Amino acid sequence: MGRLRGRMLPSPAMVPSDDAPAPEQTAALIAGGAGGVGLAAARRLEALGYRIVLLVRDVHKGREAARQLEREPAIHACDVTDRAAVEEAVREAAASVGPPLVLVNAAGIAESRPLLPPDDDLWARTLAVNATGPWIATTACLPYMQEAGHGFVCTVASTAALQGYRYTAAYVASKHAVLGLTRALAADLGSSGIRVTAVCPGFLDTPMTARTVANMTAKTGMGEDDARAALASMNPSGRLITPEEVADRIVALLQGAVDEDEPNRMD
Ligand SMILES: NC(=O)c1ccc[n+]([C@@H]2O[C@H](COP(=O)([O-])OP(=O)(O)OC[C@H]3O[C@@H](n4cnc5c(N)ncnc54)[C@H](OP(=O)(O)O)[C@@H]3O)[C@@H](O)[C@H]2O)c1
Repeated sequence: MGRLRGRMLPSPAMVPSDDAPAPEQTAALIAGGAGGVGLAAARRLEALGYRIVLLVRDVHKGREAARQLEREPAIHACDVTDRAAVEEAVREAAASVGPPLVLVNAAGIAESRPLLPPDDDLWARTLAVNATGPWIATTACLPYMQEAGHGFVCTVASTAALQGYRYTAAYVASKHAVLGLTRALAADLGSSGIRVTAVCPGFLDTPMTARTVANMTAKTGMGEDDARAALASMNPSGRLITPEEVADRIVALLQGAVDEDEPNRMD
């Protein structure tokens, strides 16, 4: 747990500055905020005073998630692969909630398949959600961040951004892509007061993993507990990482409370 590798040289923009707008006047956008890591991050950011905006695919799920927050968040339905819809959601959030200066990219999909026969639709879908989605959401928020001279973006990548796993070529490629995007954005924005970061968790205790477990039990006949244990054993810690742990790391990055070493591996 908490291993940090591949030190990146610190730049002045890597620590939050004192004149950042107050959280109470800042919209924190959470893409994929209806569950898992996104919802955990929303809860942590709300506790810091940020005004929460959930970007969700399904408004009903968004409303369910909102019950777990103390204050009513803004909820916008958009698919993260749809630039027009994301830009409209960001515009509306900026107008009604406040400048979107914090963005957590937590929307993602993971499906496993053997390499052959090649599934080009799965490839395109996975790259679109996991890599193009953060590209769209980040660039949609960027004008507001540039205007304010402040911004913080954190994308939930994965240890699959750092190594290969079997049966998940599209997922692994998408996570490598989004970590590359993070590094490129950090290089472009390094002196602008806008910090662009990523966290790389191993297997998490979230609905996504519950679906993976269900898939494993259906395909192999193994029991649910054994399937969960098999996934947990792939983390060096031997357990599933909780979404709250990832949310805590995101907040620690936001606050400059941990070294902004990348890639923030948590497994
Ligand atoms: N679970 C793991 O073991 C694990 C490990 C490392 C990294 N991660 C990454 O962590 C992030 C969060 O995943 P999680 O584990 O919290 O899973 P999760 O509970 O399934 O959350 C993923 C969220 O993304 C949303 N989403 C999917 N496609 C979308 C789209 N096209 N547009 C907008 N929203 C979309 C889902 O909405 P719906 O509910 O409507 O589908 C869901 O709310 C993902 O990027 C995932 O790859 C997960």
